[in-house]
Amino acid sequence: MGLKDRLEEDRASEGRADRGSVTHWRRRLLAEINLEDLTRLTLAQRRVRLEKVVGHILTREGPVLGERERSVLIRRVVDEALGLGVLEPLLADETVTEIMVNGPDNVFIERDGRMQRVDASFNGEDQLYQTIDRIVSMVNRRVDESSPMVDARLPSGERVNVIIPPLSLSGPVLTIRRFPKPYPIEDLVRMGSLDSATGILLAAMVRSRFNVVVSGGTGSGKTTFLNALSAFVPPDERIVTIEDSAELQLMQDHVVRLESRPPNIEGQGAIQIRDLVRNALRMRPDRIIVGEVRGPETIDMLQAMNTGHDGSLVTVHANSADDAIHRLQTLATMGEGLVPYDALRDQINNAVDAIVHLGRWPDGSRRVEEIAVVSSKRREEFRLDTVLRFEAEPIGPNRNVEGVFRHAPLPRHIAGRIYHVGEAVPAAFGVVAEREAPTQGSGQAAGGDGYVPRGPGQTYPPGSPPLQDPGRPPR
Ligand SMILES: Nc1ncnc2c1ncn2[C@@H]1O[C@H](COP(=O)(O)OP(=O)(O)O)[C@@H](O)[C@H]1O
Ligand SMILES: [Mg+2]
Repeated sequence: MGLKDRLEEDRASEGRADRGSVTHWRRRLLAEINLEDLTRLTLAQRRVRLEKVVGHILTREGPVLGERERSVLIRRVVDEALGLGVLEPLLADETVTEIMVNGPDNVFIERDGRMQRVDASFNGEDQLYQTIDRIVSMVNRRVDESSPMVDARLPSGERVNVIIPPLSLSGPVLTIRRFPKPYPIEDLVRMGSLDSATGILLAAMVRSRFNVVVSGGTGSGKTTFLNALSAFVPPDERIVTIEDSAELQLMQDHVVRLESRPPNIEGQGAIQIRDLVRNALRMRPDRIIVGEVRGPETIDMLQAMNTGHDGSLVTVHANSADDAIHRLQTLATMGEGLVPYDALRDQINNAVDAIVHLGRWPDGSRRVEEIAVVSSKRREEFRLDTVLRFEAEPIGPNRNVEGVFRHAPLPRHIAGRIYHVGEAVPAAFGVVAEREAPTQGSGQAAGGDGYVPRGPGQTYPPGSPPLQDPGRPPR
């Protein structure tokens, strides 16, 4: 690295540290002030009030600073607090997972999976446009009649989409998606998104290098689930993650994160997911994790899965496990075109081992609705075997969704693969483990075929932790 680059990097990291402290004091400020009072003041009055409060906080808790440094810091904190106006308190609230602005007077948020209107509004369209301008100029983009739709990011990384009239008939519309919070699988089990036997099975599948597709609708929790599954990739493997907007937060040390890039103002320089998948193949990955396939990258991903990068994980937008596998086929044709459908089927049958389909329920909960394994081979029509299904009961007066997870036995080719690498299969999935009485399996209701794996390498490995350790799959 040349001296010039090094200096630039030093400067950048200084800037970052600085930004961190501004963010800290801004948070403290937002915690201290009464937001309702603030909305009654004009912008100028607000600034005066906030500067005063920041001054107090700094005197009380801050480092000792020279007069000049102190006033610069105060100004920057207030700038940042006022920066996105009425959005700031919403952004500061960690329970808010999505913020939607439909014109200056309609602000909605999502909290705990439920949509609600908030009592906040912009002082007219001008102020909303100002806020939008601030957001998009931070990523060097602009919004105007010639580019009325823009994707941008907040400095904290959140994704923002902007669309303005004449395309939007509801005034300027702003949609901010917070980063999904990472939940370990144990937490998802606790929240009722899956049962512990299923958690153990999925962990075993990831460790056994199954290629797993997570499917679901928008906001069904695909990224969150992918993140939870990724925790089971052993720490000695090299993982490359590829996303449109880096949301995954892997726990392993050896992770390379790649992010695609939208075109610049001149419409140039775009780097697609597809380019990154191809590049990743030259980076000696053990596993490739793609945030979401939605286009031509699908064919590259399938090829990667078929050429020694098994154990890869990916999400796809679909309405069911069956829809997901067909959608992969359709998406794959967006690549080279003209690949015959049965050749694609061959690729998919070979590549995809299991599909985990997630659903979002009316009470805001997210659940594994179905897990299906791929049983078709070669160019056969797709055949999925469902091994888990969530059966919901009719919604009661409390509006909460309740139901049961029904398990079915794993097909032999799947169970065999898991046993083969010395992993355990929970009894709930119909495969009876050596050290466990068949009647104790939690999923016997679904009826196992009493399959006892035999043969070398297929027995429950001696010394493994008990299968029913709830939610904490054996390492
Ligand atoms: N199992 C879950 N239970 C409750 N909330 C969840 C669950 N999974 C995800 N969420 C929340 O739902 C929202 C959408 O999750 P995300 O993983 O981004 O969905 P997707 O990738 O399918 O669009 C986030 O706010 C996330 O925190
Ligand atoms: Mg996602």
